[in-house]
Amino acid sequence: MPYLIPIALLGLLFASSLQAKPEAGRTLHEQNCVACHAQGFGADGSGIYTRADRRVNSLAALETQVTFCQNNLGLAWFDEEVGSVVKYLNQQYYRFE
Ligand code: HEC
Repeated sequence: MPYLIPIALLGLLFASSLQAKPEAGRTLHEQNCVACHAQGFGADGSGIYTRADRRVNSLAALETQVTFCQNNLGLAWFDEEVGSVVKYLNQQYYRFE
C-alpha cells in the first residue's frame, strides 16, 4: 500500500506545524509586542513580565493575556502562533510548570 507513506508524511508535517515553537514566538513577540512594552518599562520592555506585581500568575492566565493582546492589536494570530509566543514568554520569563 504505497499511498500510505505520503499520507503518513503529510500527517507528520501537519502535526509539527501545530507545535508551539519558541523561536517563532520570539520573532512574533519582537515584531509586535516589544516596542509598546518598552515605552512603559524601558530597555527591552521585559520588566513588564518580571516586575514584582506582574498580573499573570499561571500558564492559563498567560495564554489568556497573549490571546487578548493580539486580538486587541488586530493581529488575528492562529492558535499555534499564540502558543509559540506563550511558550517563548514562559521559557524566557515566567517559568510556570
Ligand atoms: C499598545 C501597547 C501594547 C502592545 C502593542 C502590547 N502590549 Fe502587552 N501590555 C501593555 C501594557 C500597558 C501592559 C500592562 C497592563 C497592566 O499592568 O495592567 C501589558 C501587559 C502584558 C502582559 C502581562 C504582563 C504581566 O503583568 O504579567 C503580557 C503577557 C503581555 N502584555 C503580552 C503582550 C503580547 C504577547 C503582545 C503582542 C501580541 C503585547 N502584549 C502587545 C501594552 C501593550
